[in-house]
Amino acid sequence: MSWSIAAAREAGGLAGLQTLVEGVFGAGDRPAGWFGRKLARECLDDALTRVAFVGDDPTDPRAWIGFVLAGRPPSRRPAVRAAGVGVLAAWRRRGVAAALLDSLAAASVDLGATAIEVAASPGALPLYRACGFVDVQATTTLLAFGRGAHSPSSPPTPWDTPRQPLELHGYLQEAWERTPDAERTTLAWPELAVTHHVCREGRAFAVHRTVTASTGAHALDAAFDHLLERLPDGAPVLALAVPLVSSITGSLRSAGWVDVQYAAIVRRPL
Ligand SMILES: CC(C)(COP(=O)(O)OP(=O)(O)OC[C@H]1O[C@@H](n2cnc3c(N)ncnc32)[C@H](O)[C@@H]1OP(=O)(O)O)[C@@H](O)C(=O)NCCC(=O)NCCS
Repeated sequence: MSWSIAAAREAGGLAGLQTLVEGVFGAGDRPAGWFGRKLARECLDDALTRVAFVGDDPTDPRAWIGFVLAGRPPSRRPAVRAAGVGVLAAWRRRGVAAALLDSLAAASVDLGATAIEVAASPGALPLYRACGFVDVQATTTLLAFGRGAHSPSSPPTPWDTPRQPLELHGYLQEAWERTPDAERTTLAWPELAVTHHVCREGRAFAVHRTVTASTGAHALDAAFDHLLERLPDGAPVLALAVPLVSSITGSLRSAGWVDVQYAAIVRRPL
């Protein structure tokens, strides 16, 4: 049976894709509203996001067989950012994902983008490499557990911190800025010149960014130690998008943080 590619806009919009995405990745124990939250935080765009469908009606969800989610977060321009590609199991290895990425590339060029970027899981790397993406940076998510008594209540501050220009790790600026204030906090240690931006994700806390003015290992070790002391006892704490190889990563592993998820930032020049 033949299949085609359409923009999500022609397939009824982004929100309806949740069932298809869960059909590929599983619904798991995701919290209610997870997909809408992802759409907003990752700036996903219905003109860039692509849907593969069989037959001739892209608006019929029963015809959908694959997707690539994509958007244009201002912090990543002039690149387009893809946020997940998936094909239903029965349709794999027939070129559907490659066609979705080619279609996204064509739409991205039309918008003046110069590249597509994505944080690829290890299992998806063969696909991206086969589709013209090159490795930019290897990253890891590190896990530790809170040791404090209460949830922090300090308000969030802007992504950039005055006089702390060095980013130790950073996820997506828009994801930080588009998270409701009640679900995020900034924990700063002025005496160490270190600032962490932290979002609550269910029971866990995700450290989206850590910036500093210093490269001193002692200050950084102390700051991450203070961070765990300020987050609730036993709560999972995830440091996102940490460079796989760096002195701070080695130091955190020595302090008991463990690698739980690798991703390679890959880029397809357009
Ligand atoms: C990864 C995935 C999207 C690939 O979709 P697909 O439609 O089967 O991929 P394609 O047929 O377009 O593959 C194009 C090329 O990519 C490479 N490739 C794709 N899947 C591969 C795999 N599982 N192992 C090795 N190479 C692979 C191959 O070079 C392939 O060309 P070939 O079949 O001629 O050898 C699909 O397997 C999937 O949905 N997996 C589960 C979700 C997932 O892991 N998504 C990626 C993370 S966001």
